[in-house]
Order: sequence, then structure tokens, then C-alpha cells
Amino acid sequence: MIRRPFSVHPRQQILNAAPRHRHLGRFGLKTKTNNKTTAKKKKNHPSSPQDRIILASFRATTSGCNGRASVPERAGLPVQTSGVFQRLQGLKALYSSTDVANLYLAKGSGKSLHDMIIYQSQTIYPLWNNMVDAVREGKNQNEKTFGLPPEDIFQAIYRSEEEKLKFMGLMNSSWVLDGHDIVTAFNLSCFQEIVDLGGCTGALAREMAKAYPSSSITVFDLPQIVETAQKHFSQESNTVVFQSGDFFSGEIPPADLYVLARIIHDWPDEKCLTLLRKIYDTCKPGGGVLLVEALLFENRRGPVMAQIFSLNMLVQTEGRERPPSEYTRILNKSGFHNVQVCRTGKSYDAILAVR
Ligand SMILES: C[S@@+](CC[C@H](N)C(=O)[O-])C[C@H]1O[C@@H](n2cnc3c(N)ncnc32)[C@H](O)[C@@H]1O
Repeated sequence: MIRRPFSVHPRQQILNAAPRHRHLGRFGLKTKTNNKTTAKKKKNHPSSPQDRIILASFRATTSGCNGRASVPERAGLPVQTSGVFQRLQGLKALYSSTDVANLYLAKGSGKSLHDMIIYQSQTIYPLWNNMVDAVREGKNQNEKTFGLPPEDIFQAIYRSEEEKLKFMGLMNSSWVLDGHDIVTAFNLSCFQEIVDLGGCTGALAREMAKAYPSSSITVFDLPQIVETAQKHFSQESNTVVFQSGDFFSGEIPPADLYVLARIIHDWPDEKCLTLLRKIYDTCKPGGGVLLVEALLFENRRGPVMAQIFSLNMLVQTEGRERPPSEYTRILNKSGFHNVQVCRTGKSYDAILAVR
């Protein structure tokens, strides 16, 4: 039997899970009584992805709370439903976000995961409600969940201006955390012209520009995405330029290195081969391709984050996460050779192949 990710909504889980205030430390909250910190200060990140999601949902729910006013009121919750807070207020407890929460959850932080959490809870979570059907049917659940045709996945993802911005926020926030590890997984300084195909907001491209200041970096994406990226996402590096187009139906710009970050995992093998063959034909001699994906183990029994991402792909796209041997096979089939794999130990890994 397929179990749903949470038996109750994450927000409810937080309220259920927190009746003893010592548990608040688990969610990244410090409790203070008589100005003494009573919860142990956590040095590390939350221990599991679920903890991270719960922690983050909590911060999203109570965004703006800084310990000086009633938490339920600030969170827009009816005061009488929040027994845990009342009880703590009875103890004259005060609350403030921990350093971890301030760093990863506060909206204004440079490393904020706020947009990721919003997308997970408002878009991915409803899709996961149809996970059983997704497994039975082997296809995405855009139609059942949102009433949208399953064929054009990006039409579904970009179904409104609001959804487009949320998705782009999600994409952007991943590279704020892991971008540097990805762009330095291999020494890419020999590649002069780099094109990030489907580069979205340009977040990974900006990390590239920082790591390889003498290379020129182009972000290539659909016209509406390029327009939104330039309007809404900060572009502090003028070494990154944007170009719009369609990598399936149109031409792609010539380059020494093509970056495909979280692109292959959206598509079935045939579409990946079509795209990689086009890249091979346009790539300059001596050039290469860098795939950035969450790599499964060869036996597919982990890592757990890659498995979860693969289920996300199932409910929302036409693709899946793959183990290194599958990427090697697709790359070789499209003409690339000398495939090197680097597991970064973070959420995403890197594969480099040359023409
Ligand atoms: C899963 S997102 C990955 C974004 C980015 N590479 C990252 O890792 O943050 C896929 C990206 O491919 C873009 N894309 C999808 N179909 C495309 C097409 N036919 N031509 C160009 N870009 C496309 C989407 O707009 C989106 O930005």
C-alpha cells in the first residue's frame, strides 16, 4: 500500500506535535522562560527532510512572529484553537526564531527556503494526494489535481502568473544552497562559452559566473520565463546574459559547455535523446555537457531525497530520477563519451561528458 506523505496536513501536524514545549526546539524555535533559554540550542540543520518541511511550514505559517506578540494572532489563527501557544503564554514564555530558522526560513534571508516550502505545500502536496493513482497509471496527476491536460507539463506548471512565480522561486532557492558545490564538482574553467539550457531564474548561472569569472554564461529558457526572470529575480552579475527560445522546437546557441540542471529528469528517454543529440550537433569541438540531477543508487534503494524527487517527477512531469548508468547510456547514445560522475553529498549531483 502506498502511504500518503503525511496523514494530516503539515500545519495540523505541528499543532498536534507540539503540546510539550520542549518539542519546539525540533521545529527550530527557542522557548525562553524568565529570559532563560530552555530548549537545547540546535547546532545542525533539521535532521530529516520531513523535519525540514515541518519546520519550514511552521515558519511560513507563523511568518513575522518575533516573540513580542501573540503567536496565534500573528499567524492569523483563532486564539482558542492554539492550546499549545496558550499554555506557553500561561508560562510567560517568549518565542524567537533560532539562527537556523532565521537563515533558512525568514523571507528576507539570502539563503531562504521560503519559496520552496510554499511550492511544496501549495502545489506538490495536492499532487501527492493522488500518488496512488500516479503509481497505478504511471503518469502525472495534473489533470486530476488541477484539471489541466497531462501532456504539456510546463503549460500546467506555468498555468498562472502566480504559479509561474512560485515555481521559479522554488527553482531559485535550490541553488542558493547547493549551487556552489554543483558548479565546482568539476573544474569547468576550460569552457569559455557556457549555456545553461532551461536555466530559469539564472540562479545556477550566477554561481557559475562567480566560480568562472573569465567564462561567458548564457541562460536559455522559454520567452515568458526569461522575461519574468529579468523582472523579478535579482541579476547582480552582468556576466550572465539571457536568451529566449525553445530547446525542443527551435535552435539553441552554440557553446563549449551546455548545462542541463534538472532538465533530463522532466522527460522520458526519447525526448532526452532528441535534446542531447541536438546539443551534440551544436556543441563546439572539445566541448561538453554537464547534467545536474539527484542521482539514485544503481539498485534504486536510495538516497531518500532522490527517491522523493523521483516521486515528485512522477506526479508532476513525464520524467523520473535515474541512476548514473542510465545517464551514461543516454549520453553515449547521443554521441557523448568520457562520462564522469560526481556525487556531491548534497541534494543534487553532477555528470560531465565530452563531445
Ligand atoms: C525543472 S526546471 C529547471 C530550472 C533550472 N535549470 C534549475 O535547475 O533551477 C526546467 C526548466 O526548463 C525550462 N524549459 C522547459 N521546456 C523548455 C523548452 N522547450 N525550451 C527551453 N526551456 C524549457 C523551464 O522553463 C524551466 O525553467
